[in-house]
Parts: sequence; C-alpha cells; structure tokens
Amino acid sequence: MESYRLQDPVLENDWHAVYLASELQDSPIGVTLLGERVAIYRTKKGVHACRDLCIHRGTMLSRGWLEDDILVCPYHGWKYDTTGQCVCIPAQPKGENISARARTEMYGCVEKYGFIWVCIGDPAAELPHLEEFDNPEFRPLPCGPYKVSAAATRVIENFTDFAHLMFVHRNLLGHPDYAELPDIKVVKEKDRIYIENIPIFQPVAHSGSDKKEGTTYVYRKEVYRPLSARLSKTDPANGQTLWIMLSVQPVTAEECVVFMVVSRNYGFDVPDENFVHFQNMVFDQDARIIETQKPELLPLDLQVELNHKVDIFSVAYRRWLNELGVVVGTV
Ligand code: FES
Ligand code: CO
Repeated sequence: MESYRLQDPVLENDWHAVYLASELQDSPIGVTLLGERVAIYRTKKGVHACRDLCIHRGTMLSRGWLEDDILVCPYHGWKYDTTGQCVCIPAQPKGENISARARTEMYGCVEKYGFIWVCIGDPAAELPHLEEFDNPEFRPLPCGPYKVSAAATRVIENFTDFAHLMFVHRNLLGHPDYAELPDIKVVKEKDRIYIENIPIFQPVAHSGSDKKEGTTYVYRKEVYRPLSARLSKTDPANGQTLWIMLSVQPVTAEECVVFMVVSRNYGFDVPDENFVHFQNMVFDQDARIIETQKPELLPLDLQVELNHKVDIFSVAYRRWLNELGVVVGTV
C-alpha cells in the first residue's frame, strides 16, 4: 500500500514521544509522525501503535473505538487485534476466512518518562536511559505538548543555544547586561554530544528558588538523539538543580510537537503548576522566534548562516546530524 511517510532512515528507526501517557485512556488517538498517520491505543496488555489506516477503504482507525482490546474501524466495523490482523469483518458471513492481507502495520510503542513513544521503523536502539527519572530526590513534571510551526531540528538547536537566554528570555533567564559567554568545549561521544560546567549569570533566581539576588548557575546540555535533548541547571551554592528533558515529534518536515519534562530537587512547597506555567512562558518565547526562521529547515551546510564562535554547540549539532544522515528537517 502507498506510504505517506517522509523518507528518513535515521528518524524512522528512532523513538519519538507522541503523546502524554496520562491522557491516553480508553479511546484510540491519532497522531502524525514523519508524515505518517499513526493510531495509538491502550489495552490491558499495554500501549500499542499501528498505521492509522484501515486497509479496507483507507479511513482512520483512530476515529474508531476499542472493544475488548480490539480496535474497531468506524466505517464498516472491521476489527483489528494487537498484532494488526483483522479478526472480524461484520458484513462477511460467519465462519468464512479473513484474508491474511487484511491487516494494519504495527509499530513499536512504549510508555516511559510520562510519554507514549513510537518508532515507525525498526528501532535502532532502546529508549535512552535518563537517570534523573530514577532519582527519588527529583520530581518530574510533564510540560506541553507544544505545537510549533517549525522544523523539529530548529527547536533542538534553540535548546543548545545560550546566547538567546539574555534576549528572548530577558529578565527570566538572563539579562543583556550579562550576555558575554564563557568558552565552551563540546564533547562528542558515539551517541551524543554535550557540554558541561557552563557558568551563566542570571540576575533573577530560577523559578521556585527562595533566593532573591542574582545567581551564577552551572549548566550542562546534552543532545542524546537527533530530536531529543536535556539540560541541567544547578545552583552550586545549594545544589538546587533543575533538569529539563525535551523530545520533539517531527510531524512533517516543518511542523513539530514538543514534549518536555521539568524535574527539580527543590521548591517542593511551590505548586507544580508554577513550574509548568514558567516553562509554558519560556517555551512560548522560544517558539515565537523559531517560527520566524528561514530557511525553515536547518541548514547543515555551515556556510548558509553565519556561525560564530559561541555557536560551537549548535555547529556540533549540525555536524552530528550530517554525519548521521538526518534528512527530515534539514537542508
Ligand atoms: Fe475500515 Fe471499511 S474502511 S472497515
Ligand atoms: Co529559549
């Protein structure tokens, strides 16, 4: 059957967060990943994902419903089990065989870190292990999802960037008077690139902190999959640390949905909503900028935009995508 999938051998075989786990309940849900419509649903056995297309007449299975853990197409009621096989065609006399071709493709689907993750190809690896989720001193909070009219790669690049904090997030995460950046050294490993021990002065304390005066935070930022990254921000004076994990769902080459988890080891007397609200505000500021960028796709040719010394991490990201051969969201 015809495929609507955007061709990308790396991203197809990778895991992508596509939904908040807490919101996937009794009804199937339709999402789009790399141009392909995907139905996700929950049964007693766990979570499942399949091609969101009934082989009979091409309707969306996610518009159907679940009956005893079987996905029912809303058009003529064909029923699909969790292997993707059609097990009932209501219009057909009982006892007649159902063609083995009557099936929908199943995809990899797991529930972890508060999200539903899908892989529409052959998973090249398991989901990365993120130790901040195992640490009982931290309280993880899902934020978003945020829909952005921009390439997922542009969102990750923005996440690697420090020099915008003082402008885009002026008075929240920095101030133009303190825009000068320290030397940054990128470490590249097989499956990730990261930077650490980056001191950034912020005239305001991070959300939830009881400090009033400015603080020099120490940042660590890591891109551990082409479209997944995380950072930690620590106040060395008291060890208060905020982790932010980000995974961006490439809907098409130029549209994405951002899933985020903010995790902290302090400020438990501050309502969680305050942290979510702060993150919403910060991310909205980023999105308003990212959506204006041209070219929309991230240029991997380093001559296309003017890279400065301070962009060393974003340059490393572009080089890494180039090496990996990521196609969607790049040019
Ligand atoms: Fe799905 Fe006919 S289109 S049952
Ligand atoms: Co930002």
